[in-house]
Amino acid sequence: MKTAAILTVGVHLLCFLSGNWTATLGGYGSDSRLGPLQYPNVSNISTFLMNPSSGILYLGARDAILAVDTSDLSAKHKQIVWDVPEDKRRSCVGKGKTEVDCHNYIRLLEFLDDGRIYACGTYAFDPQCSVINTESFSLETTEEGAVRMETGKGKCPFEPSQHYTAVMADGVLYTATTSNFLGTLFDISRATGSEGERIRTEQSINWLSDPEFVSSAFIQENKHNPAGDDDKIYFFFTEVAKEYDLYTKVKVPRVARVCKGDVGGMKTLQKRWTTFLKAQLVCEDRASGQRYNILTNVYTMEHQQGDPSSTHFYGIFTSQWEREELSAVCVYSLADISKVMAGPFKELKKTCENWMNPEPVPNPRPGQCITSALKAEGFESSLKLPDKVLTYVRDHPLMENSVAAAPLLVRRGITYTRIAVSLTAVSNSDRSAAVLLLGTDRGELHRVSVVGQNATLLQEIPLFTAQEPVNNILLHKDQALVGSPLSLARLPAEGCGLYPSCEVCALARGLGCVWRPKEGACSPALEGSPPGPEDSLKLCDSGEARCSPAVKELRVTEGLHVLLACEQVSPRPCFWEHPPHRHTRQHHSHLEVRVTQDSLGFYTCLCEEAGRDPTPCRRAAYELTLEGPVVGGAVGLGGGRHVLAVYVLFFLAGVVGGAFLLLCFQRRRPAASEPSEKGRDLLPSSDTPQSPSSASLLSEAVPLTEKRNGTLNGHGALYANASGLKLHESAVNLAEELDGRERERAGLGRGDEGRGLEEEIAAALEELPQTPLFKGAPLAQCEESSI
Ligand SMILES: *[C@@H]1O[C@H](CO)[C@@H](O)[C@H](O)[C@H]1NC(C)=O
Ligand SMILES: *[C@@H]1O[C@H](CO)[C@@H](O)[C@H](O)[C@H]1NC(C)=O
Ligand SMILES: *[C@@H]1O[C@H](CO)[C@@H](O)[C@H](O)[C@H]1NC(C)=O
Repeated sequence: MKTAAILTVGVHLLCFLSGNWTATLGGYGSDSRLGPLQYPNVSNISTFLMNPSSGILYLGARDAILAVDTSDLSAKHKQIVWDVPEDKRRSCVGKGKTEVDCHNYIRLLEFLDDGRIYACGTYAFDPQCSVINTESFSLETTEEGAVRMETGKGKCPFEPSQHYTAVMADGVLYTATTSNFLGTLFDISRATGSEGERIRTEQSINWLSDPEFVSSAFIQENKHNPAGDDDKIYFFFTEVAKEYDLYTKVKVPRVARVCKGDVGGMKTLQKRWTTFLKAQLVCEDRASGQRYNILTNVYTMEHQQGDPSSTHFYGIFTSQWEREELSAVCVYSLADISKVMAGPFKELKKTCENWMNPEPVPNPRPGQCITSALKAEGFESSLKLPDKVLTYVRDHPLMENSVAAAPLLVRRGITYTRIAVSLTAVSNSDRSAAVLLLGTDRGELHRVSVVGQNATLLQEIPLFTAQEPVNNILLHKDQALVGSPLSLARLPAEGCGLYPSCEVCALARGLGCVWRPKEGACSPALEGSPPGPEDSLKLCDSGEARCSPAVKELRVTEGLHVLLACEQVSPRPCFWEHPPHRHTRQHHSHLEVRVTQDSLGFYTCLCEEAGRDPTPCRRAAYELTLEGPVVGGAVGLGGGRHVLAVYVLFFLAGVVGGAFLLLCFQRRRPAASEPSEKGRDLLPSSDTPQSPSSASLLSEAVPLTEKRNGTLNGHGALYANASGLKLHESAVNLAEELDGRERERAGLGRGDEGRGLEEEIAAALEELPQTPLFKGAPLAQCEESSI
């Protein structure tokens, strides 16, 4: 019986979906998007390398490297096959590895100083590196014609799926990877260059403790910095905290730093970093105490082009303690990280003696790069540093303070995998704003505008199939190149012209966009300041017509849950008029209805708006009517063979989806009742005295004239567009979620009846939008139930 109910829901949702689908695709098709393209016999693409001057993008895949001309994606690509000989593959399988892993997964592509490309692959669990000649686009060979290879140990992981990062700094490769077959040893090292300068981390859990490497960046000092400071390489990772003595393995996000000129110590720390320092990153919403402790991706960008000191790091986080999907974005400035690295060291040897009298910090300060001042004191290189300095830094790699930031964006039910950021100048204003491009694990790209502290979701673009996580985003000349393991797509990174409807354009007003009804296009505001949020949306319909919408008829069956969308243009509340029964529940301004005989009839959403007292604006009107039992299609939703075909297709998909859903929710139900907050308070927040660094976000570029209000910065969560039931989620931000929750608690939307089955279905429904087939269905994220 449960099965039946859920199946019906699935089928019906898909029917609604089919009605709007074409419209949605049409809308997005208008921007000069290309792809997704796939390449025959190419899979597991994991690495991107762009030659900015030629526009050639190199892709590292399984057993292959591709060269793609990004100015003409449809042109024939070039391809190098670099696979593993049959006997080698067999011996790899013989060592207990799977056939599919015993290939050569290209994990590293980096330019050498002379324009050739250094490439490394896992080579059937025996990592190898080689050099690509870009002129002929071929691997360099020995005299006998075999590929010239050198060991990739320490440069590339053994296993294809291991977390890994590498960065080239002045022609020398710095990597963070596992360095043995079993995957039990981890190293951050200078992996190429002269033999004597290949140095790495100490094998100590104080240095690295089960790390998952995420990202790395080479940050140069300004050429003429008076202190003669050295260039630095930063590594980002998540590791298991060793500074807390706990039974649970608490994960912590970290940033670590080494100096480019470090050549190790003479006696102590021989061939080890003498400058390895790391600090905890904190991504925390102070108000709710929610911490996001797992870092999954970082994007590095200079807020002022050409000024490395303006570098900011945008990180995607999730939480160890949440069972549901959850993503947050926090931003850290280089300046804040430097401040923490120059601060006190954490005492890791907690003996009684140390506790009372922490070991004094020796002179010169441990872990610093060799500067002009140090050279003047006779320390020309790290080899000259005194033993006591080196033993101190060996025992104190962790800083006492953390680098803290408040999330810029929090989204539930979504797993972001990659982030890229593009700064846009707001026309006719000295401000600038950022557009975040966020890739999901289900093949989507989301655009979020960030103006000051306000993050607003602009678009969710389905790019690839839901089985293809976005694993690369690269910005090149106002274009975003987005990749999954199988596909590549190109789309514009920014610009008002991207926003296809008046409503989305209104959301992008912070980016200086206005809708021009005559042209029916979104374009940059030319003179004066862009209109306020309410005015922007009011532009979308004119006059009274806006408050007398046509009644949409919805054909429904009993037992179905439908979410009736109502667009909220103002922070003032919306309420619903509907037949007297108890089968509704309000989610922000939207109304969820469980269809029974007595819930049929008219539903009207009325919203208060400034200047419209006492008559509220009718934002949406629906009529629910009963339709006959579903038997393979042909009911409702327009005529047309096209729709019918889609309908039948979706009927089948619905059956599969429903079954899948049932499976998911049966699996997830029991878990959800367990407490998930355990451990959230395990990390003391007292060790984070920094001001939230995201307050400094864009601060060079954007004078933060507005006060940070921390509450509502947009409106509601979802809105319906003119064509019907396509729902978008607008401004997502924890503060706002809380706000919404409070409003609901204040009694705006109550009135659901008993629990039991209904609740279970509701829980299953909450998962609906997450399953790919259901994207865009009227039952969008009912993320926060009102009870
Ligand atoms: C793809 O691989 C198959 C089998 O290995 C081969 O027959 C086919 O020619 C390949 N196609 C291309 C375009 O390389
Ligand atoms: C490579 O691709 C195959 C098929 O697409 C997939 O099953 C496998 O997990 C991938 N391997 C890695 C390491 O990503
Ligand atoms: C952020 O949103 C609030 C509320 O909508 C608004 O008052 C404020 O001006 C916005 N700040 C920026 C920088 O757009």
